[in-house]
This record gives sequence, structure tokens and C-alpha cells, in this order.
Amino acid sequence: MGIIFQEKGNIFKLDAKDTSYIIQITEKGYLQHVYWGKKVRSLNLKYISRFYGEQNSKALEEGVINNFSLDYMPAEYPAYGNQDFRSPAYQVQLENGSTISDLRYESHNIFSGKKKLQGLPAVYVEKDEEADSLEVVLRDSVSGLKVVLTYTAFKDYDVITRSAQLINEGKEELKILRALSANVDLGCKDFQMLQLSGSWSRERHVVKRPVVMGIQSIESRRGVSSHQQNPFIALMKGDADEDHGDVYGFNLVYSGNFLANVELEQFDLTRVQIGINPFDFTWLLKEGESFQAPEAVLVYSDEGLGKMSRTFHKLYRNRMCRGVHRDKERPVLINNWEGTYFNFNEEIIKKIATEAKELGVELFVLDDGWFGKRNDDTTSLGDWFVDKNKLPNGLDNLAKYINEQGIKFGLWFEPEMVSPDSDLYRKHPDWCIHVENREKTLARTQLVLDLSRKDVCDAIVKMVSDILDSVPISYVKWDNNRYMTEVGSATLPAERQRETAHRYMLGFYSVLEAITTRFPEILFESCASGGGRFDPAMLYYMPQTWASDDTDAVERLKIQYGTSIVYPSITMGAHVSAVPNHQVNRITPLETRGNVAMSGTFGYELDVTKMSDEEKETVRQQIITYKEIRTLVQFGDFYRLLSPFEGNETAWMFVAEDKSDVAASFFKVLSSSHKKLSVLKLKGLDPNKDYLLIGTDEVYGGDELMNTGLVIPELKGDFQSYMWRLKEIK
Ligand code: DGJ
Repeated sequence: MGIIFQEKGNIFKLDAKDTSYIIQITEKGYLQHVYWGKKVRSLNLKYISRFYGEQNSKALEEGVINNFSLDYMPAEYPAYGNQDFRSPAYQVQLENGSTISDLRYESHNIFSGKKKLQGLPAVYVEKDEEADSLEVVLRDSVSGLKVVLTYTAFKDYDVITRSAQLINEGKEELKILRALSANVDLGCKDFQMLQLSGSWSRERHVVKRPVVMGIQSIESRRGVSSHQQNPFIALMKGDADEDHGDVYGFNLVYSGNFLANVELEQFDLTRVQIGINPFDFTWLLKEGESFQAPEAVLVYSDEGLGKMSRTFHKLYRNRMCRGVHRDKERPVLINNWEGTYFNFNEEIIKKIATEAKELGVELFVLDDGWFGKRNDDTTSLGDWFVDKNKLPNGLDNLAKYINEQGIKFGLWFEPEMVSPDSDLYRKHPDWCIHVENREKTLARTQLVLDLSRKDVCDAIVKMVSDILDSVPISYVKWDNNRYMTEVGSATLPAERQRETAHRYMLGFYSVLEAITTRFPEILFESCASGGGRFDPAMLYYMPQTWASDDTDAVERLKIQYGTSIVYPSITMGAHVSAVPNHQVNRITPLETRGNVAMSGTFGYELDVTKMSDEEKETVRQQIITYKEIRTLVQFGDFYRLLSPFEGNETAWMFVAEDKSDVAASFFKVLSSSHKKLSVLKLKGLDPNKDYLLIGTDEVYGGDELMNTGLVIPELKGDFQSYMWRLKEIK
């Protein structure tokens, strides 16, 4: 059993792969956090009793229980109002207006496996033996609020998942003001906090800052997890770095407004919390009703950020992504967006698809502009029927033609949106998120459909399914191109208006569940103006995400490096586009654009018919190379070697699980007259294996490659790159 309850001391010990997480029920029935880190066989009870502060231990020893203060105690799910003055994990308002509650232990349940989270995406198990779960029931005796904290410890991963459910078992209405998913009070003050921040076309840049006294937090208030902040933070202890030291990762399985909060306080405890953003959120809990908070994934690494990332990667590849495509190699695709934007017709599309097929591409994706009267971004969202001016023979015939060329057909949708200039909006003006009598702010000339409403969700499922039923489609790109404003719903009563954003997410997940279940063979890729919703919840429904609208190879180094902190390469859409690059106007070599994009799910985002023969030959070779390394990139272990945030050079590598196959890539941004012997030290190899450097007759030991490294060839000019392939010789 990975989870045990030890009656002596009232201790829960949760053992994941090489990790232990220990909780104690105190004498007064509070849930105290005791330990999270490298696996330990047991903890001395004396240590634990002294753990929550000298003053508390003294009070307990002397039996002066009233001197006990929660402010000293590392807590698992702290309340507000009873002497813990730090940020609470939850808060409810009672009918008398008070916001005080006091949760005490009531019971617990330990079982094999992991239950599903009602209506929400979560890490799953395929067999009960893969994990053990603990449910701890806490109760506030005055209000009747019951809270069930659920923990799962995974046998093969250094992962603990957590969530909280709030149930009203009292006689009065409760209003939830805050219901975070996890709270951990780490017994140390010496942390760096790492977050993945940015903007549209600059997503998930690595930002580090020392944790100082007080609160430091990141959040989204935009209705999606956002380009600006990813629902992830890592706390790196002391001088922990890429390969060394204790790192604690927290990722919320949620695509809406979130808060990740770190608070260092007077007794050198660092409180870390993650969950739905309490900002502009309340939830009415009537008698008998319950509220389920999303799941938080907690990863511990004793070998720096790199090991933490590989744990997230493996977990998400195997137990977050689902469906028939989870374990399948993903196709090399070509998308016409940057090639044509809205300006295409049937002939142009057929030509691009046919030429791309000749070069080895496996899937053609028709992007925005195929429906309604969509010749620019001001119209037609919601009118999901084909534009016969552009495609006179219909989508069906186009898709069949493309399939006959031996290449699959994929299609773009933006189903959560509506253009004011659309038949859908004219018919149902109240179907969008809005507040009566307030201006509806447009962004990209569109509004967000109100997915907190079941009728709207049903209509979306029908509109999308009608197309997927009638056209041979192998892939769907599901886009979302604006944030929420004037958040409110036409159908919710006043006291539930602040539930709209979360109700939207629940409706959205139900739509995704319905469509992906009905079309299991289709490969879905999510997108939100690039990577505005790159989060684990989306991966539960759609096993890949378009990483960014910025396709410049140099900018992509930071975006992809940052994304790799949490998300596996197989989930990261990465395409070669034309130069000068449409976002930054930079001209980079086609080889470098290829090498960067080959580190994710590879494709092209250009009009191949406009390429020279020489360029086409390069593309042909790139696709051959990618197909050779595809298994390695999509299913291998990822190691970061040089950070684009720390210098002019970036490097990363992929190693097969059995260490037999290796691909390593090096990128240099600017050229310099500074000549030097540069070597790249590899990681993650078997020191006792010998590796052949492909394309040569040179053989290197794994130990040699990791300690002396490979010599980086002289690369002339700016924006150069190099890829090595190594294979074990048996
Ligand atoms: C934003 C996406 O990120 C792009 O790739 C493209 O699909 C456009 N939307 C289409 O409007």
C-alpha cells in the first residue's frame, strides 16, 4: 500500500515512487502538513510532535491546549479567522454574514486506484494498482460544511495529486468565496519561485524570482488559463538548478481563471497554494449541494528542474492525454494559415495539399476562413457551414480529393465564439457572455458564447458534430481567440452571476467530452491565439496544443524551452513558416527553422507552392529526418542542456527510454568573432554504452559524451543550428 494510516501519532504517510508526503491529525483535529520530499521509511514521532513550532509543542506538553496557535502550524487546508493569519485555502460565508469556519478531522478512507473528478479533467489510472488514494473528511460543526480532501500517490511517478470538494451538509445556504485545490506549507524559506509568463506570441518564458516575506503570486483573470501566466509554479530550494536540488512543481488542471500563491511568513514557512482564482468568484452552495475544485498535480524532484519536467512529461503523456492518439506517432502536417490567411480557394488548397504530399507531409489542415462569409476576422463565427464562394464543391468533396492524394484532411474551428455579424448572433443575441445594459466589448470583432448554458453547449456540440459527421476529417484544430469581458450570463440569477466563469469551464469541458467521445478517431489540437490555453486540462481532451502564433525560429527557442518545463514535446505543435517571418520579420535559415520545429509535433505553416526547388528538397529531407526521430522526440526523455534565457546558445536533447537512441540539437542566435572550442555535454545517457555518431564512423562512450562532450562544429552566420544523431552499438 502506498498510503498508510499510522494510529500512533495519527499520521498519514503517502508514498509515491521515490517521494513521501506526510500529514498528521493534531490533538485538536487539525490537518497538519509534516513532510514532502525524498522517500523516508518513517518519521520519529518526537520529531513530528515538535514540528509545528516550539510554542505549540510546549503548550501541548504542558496540556495548555488553549495556547496552541494555528499560526505556527504548517497546514493542509487552512481556514480564515482562527489565528492562522496567512492566506486561507478556502473561505465560506454563512447566512449571518460571518466568514469564519473551522474544519476538524472527521474520518478518512484509503483505497487503491483513483476516482474520477466529477465534470473535471484529471490525471487517471488504468489499473487500480497504479496508485493509492486518501480521502480525508473535515467538518465545520457550526455550519455543517464538509470538506473532502483527496490525495493520490502514484507508484511509478513522483507525483501526488490533490483536490478538494466542499459539501453543504448544514441547514443554511453557504457562499463559497474561495476554494483552492491545494495548500502546502513547506518548512523552508530559502526558495526561488519559477513561473512561465509572457504574452501573445511570447508564451511561457521562464521567470525566476527569490521568494521574499509576504505574498507573491501569479493569476489569470481572463477567462482562460492565458498567455500571460501558465497555471504552474515551481519552488526551487536554495541553489537548486536544472540538474540538482529539491524542486516542488505545482500545476493546476484547469483552463480558466487561476491563482498560484506563495506566502513566506514570520516563522520561515513557505505557504504554496493553487486553485481557481477567488477574484470575482463566488459559488452558492445550497443545502445538500457540493462543489468540486479542480485537481492540482504536485511533483517533487530531488534532481532539479530537469527531473521535475521529465516527471510531468511522462505523467501527462501516459495518464493525462487520452484516446487512440495518446500512444500514436503524430502526423507531419501542413497548415495553410500563414500561407494564405483568408485568401484561398479550392484550387489553391488542392495545390498546396498535393505538393505537400509529394514532400512527405501526412496531413493537410484547412485553417480559418472556410465557412460563412469569412474573408477577414470580422464576421461569421457561429455560422459553421461551408463558404461555397471559396469552396464551390463543398468541404466534403475537398476532403475526399485530398484524401485521394494520399494525405489526410484536418479542419479549423472556433466553436466557443460568435461574430455579431453572423446568423447565429442575429438569432440568439443573448447566447454570448454579457451583462444586461452594458456594452459588449468586442475583441477581434467577436464575442464569447455563454457555455455556462446547457442549450448553448448542446448547440455547439451539434454544429461541430454535423460537420464532423459529413466530412472525412482526421484532425481538428480547436481555436479560441479572445478573453472574457463583461462576465455574466443571461440565465443565472443575481446571486449566481459570479459563478459564470467557472460554469463556463464546466460547460466547455462537457462539450469537449461529448465531441471527443463521439469522434474518437479524430486527432484534436487545441489552440488559443497560439498558446493561450496550454494547460494540462486541455491535454485531457486534446493531446496536442499549438504552442504559439510566433513561428520565428529564434523566438520559438524561448517559447519551446519554457513550455518544456512542464509539457511534453509530443503535445507541443511546432511548425516551419516562411521568411521574412510574419511576426518579427526575421530571416532565418530553413535548416534552423526545421531543427527548432522538429523538437515538437512537426509541421509546416506556409504555401509550399511558392518555395524554390532547392527549398522543397530541404523540406523533403527534413521530413525524412523527422520521421526517423519522431518516436524519440514524441516518446523519449527530454533533457535541457543550454538555456536561451541565459545566453546566445540553446541546446536540448531526446533520449530513448532504453538509452539506445539519441538526438541532440544546438542553436546559436548571433554569430561572433570570438573563436573558441565549444563542446556540448550530453545528459541522460548510459555511461556504459557506446554510441555511434550517425553519418560518421566515430564511436563515443556514454560517459565520454556526458563528461567531455561533443565538439560543436563551427557555424558561420547568425541563427545557425546543428543536430546530432547517436545510436547505441550493441
Ligand atoms: C489563431 C491561431 O493561433 C492561428 O494559428 C490561426 O488559426 C488563427 N487564429 C486563425 O484565425
